[in-house]
Amino acid sequence: MVIYDILKKKRDGLPLSEDEINYFINEYTMGKIPDYQISALLMAIFINKMNDQETLYLTKAMINSGETVNLDNIDGIKVDKHSTGGVGDSTTLILGPMVAACGVPFVKMSGRGLGHTGGTLDKLESIKNFRVNLSTDKFVNNTNDINISICSQTANITPADKKLYALRDVTATVDNLSLIASSIMSKKLAIKSDAIILDVKVGSGAFMKTYDEAKKLAHEMVKIGKNYGRETVAIVTNMDQPLGNAIGNSLEVKEAIETLKGNGPKDLFQLCLVLGAKLLVLAKRVKNEQEAERLLLNSIESGKAYNKLIELVKYQDGDTSVIDNPDLLPKASHIIEVKSKNKGYIKSINAEEIGRCALALGAGRETMDSELDLSAGIVLNKKVDEFVEEGETLTYIHTNDINKGKEVAEMILDIYKIGEKNHGSQQLIIDEI
Ligand code: URA
Repeated sequence: MVIYDILKKKRDGLPLSEDEINYFINEYTMGKIPDYQISALLMAIFINKMNDQETLYLTKAMINSGETVNLDNIDGIKVDKHSTGGVGDSTTLILGPMVAACGVPFVKMSGRGLGHTGGTLDKLESIKNFRVNLSTDKFVNNTNDINISICSQTANITPADKKLYALRDVTATVDNLSLIASSIMSKKLAIKSDAIILDVKVGSGAFMKTYDEAKKLAHEMVKIGKNYGRETVAIVTNMDQPLGNAIGNSLEVKEAIETLKGNGPKDLFQLCLVLGAKLLVLAKRVKNEQEAERLLLNSIESGKAYNKLIELVKYQDGDTSVIDNPDLLPKASHIIEVKSKNKGYIKSINAEEIGRCALALGAGRETMDSELDLSAGIVLNKKVDEFVEEGETLTYIHTNDINKGKEVAEMILDIYKIGEKNHGSQQLIIDEI
């Protein structure tokens, strides 16, 4: 087989065979095909697309490029969760303890991606001494003991995806449905949980900007999951404005702690309840979502979910006093209040632009080598459809760089659109696939 012929075929809009896909994935992973040819192939895929069969072959080839993690030694039906990425999304830190407190094993191995803020691992690392790199044995034992474990990918999982994702990132070929679906699902399927819930974000702060695109991505991922015999459900959710109020690593941990105490933002908690109810049903813990919701609410009211977070932190060597006293989390040296210049209803808060502000403050990674500032970020004091008076606070900027903070304050005044009341409010939960 010759890579040139594969490239030409895709350039001409023809579907690739399983052998051809296996060939370019294996050879590229072994460093036998140069980046420039795979870049051209990615662009041809981006423009001419892949069909469902090709997407499935690509997913399989990427899973087979590395190791898989067998979780058979964990008792019960194990559940996993993935979000396609948004702004202010600390759901895992709340959902995991809630589901685990209801008796369902919650397993999550994450990678570290680029983004407006760090990922779940970075957020957890704002808790002093929290260990994200666990051996597979420890991951399994912890889950058997306390029903929850969240760690980094220790095994050599989907090395093909690591190389391809890095190349896609610099060749403007990230936001293609087949490439995203195969990238996410190869990592999810390499870790062998029994059921997976996918939170597919749609809106300004998501990869998928329209409902149609998000729905297609959700269908594609669910199809791949089911093809592998995993119970897979996708929920399409709104990411036009940030989720919750906090954006930034330690700020989101603090918000997650508050949510587990029953004092979190309504939208963030609602999403956790919806995802959690699906997981409890998928895990056959309950018969229906109403029963699931009752259990999940009880996990908050009884303090069991909050205590589960403490257990998780303890089992992963973190300082549990941080959970009881979130003031011990990393703190920025300055908090700048951004005050509204006029009065009216908040019409929109573009999530992507707010994400860029968080990135500018150092809360996220621009490149894989970027250092994160775990204390930096933004806390929204007003969200869409709320009323604001002139001079009232829109956001708080947490920063260690006062000049950068002032620049971001100007950006935020532009991002908040204030005016007449919106007709109809934004729906958080849009669809289930
Ligand atoms: N997240 C991934 O892991 N891969 C993608 O392609 C996009 C988001």
